[in-house]
Amino acid sequence: MANIQSLRGMKDIIDNDSELFTYFVENCSNIAKKYGYGYIETPILEETALFKRSVGESSDIVSKEMYNFTDKGDHEVCLRPEGTAGVVRWFVQNKKDKAGGQHRVFYHGPMFRYERPQKGRLREFHQFGCESFGEPSVYEDATIILMISEMLNFFKIGFKLQLNSLGDQNCMPQYKENLVEHLNTLTLCEDCNRRIESNPIRVLDCKNESCQNELKNAPKITDSLCESCDTDFTKLKEILDTNGIEYEVDSNLVRGLDYYTKTAFEFVSNNIGAQSAIAGGGRYDRLVEFLGGKPTPGVGFAIGIERLLELIVKNETNEKILYIGAMSQNAIDTVFCAVNTKRKTTKVLTDYKVRGFSKHLNNAQKQGATLVALIGEDEMEHGTIWVKDLETKEENKISIEDF
Ligand code: HAM
Repeated sequence: MANIQSLRGMKDIIDNDSELFTYFVENCSNIAKKYGYGYIETPILEETALFKRSVGESSDIVSKEMYNFTDKGDHEVCLRPEGTAGVVRWFVQNKKDKAGGQHRVFYHGPMFRYERPQKGRLREFHQFGCESFGEPSVYEDATIILMISEMLNFFKIGFKLQLNSLGDQNCMPQYKENLVEHLNTLTLCEDCNRRIESNPIRVLDCKNESCQNELKNAPKITDSLCESCDTDFTKLKEILDTNGIEYEVDSNLVRGLDYYTKTAFEFVSNNIGAQSAIAGGGRYDRLVEFLGGKPTPGVGFAIGIERLLELIVKNETNEKILYIGAMSQNAIDTVFCAVNTKRKTTKVLTDYKVRGFSKHLNNAQKQGATLVALIGEDEMEHGTIWVKDLETKEENKISIEDF
């Protein structure tokens, strides 16, 4: 019988990757808390309708990539493809919209999209995200971008920021009309032709080269913004300039989710191959309303954790890892006691098998220990322990009491 394998596009995270993964989540959480965000954990399984209404039926995520099924109670449910919709569902369900004021939450966890797996593109992947509700000021958009920059800088990850404004209900409908009129004069791929009907702005970010050539003279949303959107977009760029955040305005950046208004952005890296987006987000001032709540402004982002793992540079720590072992049967109780005492302050590795000196040393080195302490017959007799610092190579016999 063949052994069971993990599903295609789904990975175990272990060893150095899991070290980096927890390091990343821990430090991003600390930064988010500094900006006033509190942790939220939402269910991984939600009603399918939640994503249809928020991410949008015309998006690839909803139309092609959802892990949806009918559960035993005949409910249409799916594994969440992203984190924003669940957070907004919580916000409305708990009447935070009616309470008013500002609410800021962060989350991390698995997301599921039935995509074609390749480097940097998984079917189960993890995001770290933040969502801010109740703050219409463009300073909040800028703050979010500064926070992501702080996170990426913390891990010494280089990035490029791409920025756009998608307008709002005042300017977007007119822009869409002009765009559709223009698109109808072009020769585009099948996907694009379908999108002219369902969501014309998605045509702008078609990856097909011949479509991009055709689209060269398409009207730009940034030339059609109403006064309020234009003022906010200008202010956002000004704040980023003042704070030394470089960006590139990309009027074709429309994002693959339908809920954005005004600010949309993506952080990209040149060092991870074709799937270069490491974080994405923007403003979604209509989403609370789309999900049945009182109109409330919102803005947020999510970082894709797997794509970043190979880019993270861990700050040097001087963490000591101690390995304690027994070289004779009658030393095991003493070793057990020493391990438990030392664990109150230090990371301790051990092995309860009686082993010779060099076997223990080997074992300790393999597991990344920086200090080795061993007890054998001789040490038991004299109440001592043999200690070696694997970094400085210094070795000593000291009393077990002092140890
Ligand atoms: P998104 O751009 O779809 O946005 O995903 C955010 C990030 O998740 C991407 O930039 C990428 O790093 C990572 N990602 C997406 N798909 C995959 C995949 N198949 N494999 C590996 N990594 C992936 C959102 O999900 C929005 N909810 C972000 C947001 C929050 N907007 C406002 N608030």
